[in-house]
Amino acid sequence: MLKEQDPLIEMILEGIMSPGHDTADMDVTITDIFQGVQDMMLEHHENPEGQTRLKKYVPSMKKVFLPLDLVSALKEYDAKKHLLARKRVPPTFKEVRHVLNLSVVNAIAGKLKLVTFDADDTIYEDGGSISATSRMVTIIVELLRRGLVVSLVTAAGYPGNPGRYEERLRGILDALESCTKEERARFLVMGGECNYLLETYTKREDGKVYLREIDGALWKDGRGMRWKEEEVQALLDLAEKTLEETTAVLHMHSAKILRKERAVGIYNTSHKRFAYENLEELCLTLQYVLKDLPVPCCAFNGGNDVWVDIGNKALGIQALQNYVFRFLPKDLQGDELTKIQGMECLHVGDRFTRTGNDTRSRDAATTVWVSDPRETRYIMKKLLNA
Ligand code: IMP
Repeated sequence: MLKEQDPLIEMILEGIMSPGHDTADMDVTITDIFQGVQDMMLEHHENPEGQTRLKKYVPSMKKVFLPLDLVSALKEYDAKKHLLARKRVPPTFKEVRHVLNLSVVNAIAGKLKLVTFDADDTIYEDGGSISATSRMVTIIVELLRRGLVVSLVTAAGYPGNPGRYEERLRGILDALESCTKEERARFLVMGGECNYLLETYTKREDGKVYLREIDGALWKDGRGMRWKEEEVQALLDLAEKTLEETTAVLHMHSAKILRKERAVGIYNTSHKRFAYENLEELCLTLQYVLKDLPVPCCAFNGGNDVWVDIGNKALGIQALQNYVFRFLPKDLQGDELTKIQGMECLHVGDRFTRTGNDTRSRDAATTVWVSDPRETRYIMKKLLNA
């Protein structure tokens, strides 16, 4: 379930709907508005720390890693969807999101070094797994063949149990058997947002590809910060208490708490789904209660569960940007850089609202916001053909 909330997209929609515009000239208006936003995004890209016009309209605006050509993307989208021909029905949130995605893919195609994918609802259905026949497998293998690094960056944390990831990713792992050693080394999994990094290896006995955790000493410094174990446990204690109290207040009787080494959450023991508003209430309460603690965390709405993970996807992606540099073919490394930059890294995810766990990825990477695995396949094919 994609909840449509985003201050930048809302600003574009409000601009289109503002009463000063003549609806008979809607196509001109829409193009003008996209041109205006494109100019503001460029200004913000060039002066990320400054008080830009974009920052004034969208105070939560993150870095814009790349200049985007929104007007060309709008024209390209319109050639298929003909939204500019409409006189009475303005563009929808989804259409604006699609135009933004298209502009991102067009801008990053020639620069890309690392692609990170959220897992649930992005590369497979929520709680699902990836089959060998999935078109997503072909896309991932093609990215690896082109010399890129591909990593999943998922909240799912299974410390000491790579088998849980293997079950869900078996389709990809089987396809990696036919790849070269270098290509296989460029496929990674970041679990628990930023807490567990796994690499592939081939078992001699059966020739199949499996996953194993990489020693934290080799990559955790790339997150750029360290935190103390007592502080981690204090945060999880407070999160657990808040989950207990708030689920009781909201009468969420089928909620069961699960505490892990680096996370605590509630899942649903009933087949009847939780009300979305209750999940939102839980998340916002957790975000408020945990906001001043010294350890970074991510409290998010998973659609039918709520989790608090230690760290967030920005830290997971930053760690990858530092760690995977060495796996790039020499011609992709560049001369002076020692890490992958935000404009060379694309994160694809489905949850970019205030209570989504992909939102923080915008601190570290250029992003594409999809609603489901079908949209991921579409946009990735577009990228591969760009
Ligand atoms: P993502 O969309 O790939 O980031 O995965 C999010 C989903 O992973 C959550 O909604 C949960 O259902 C599931 N999950 C399993 N283990 C964990 C955990 O330790 N922390 C957070 N989510 C988890």
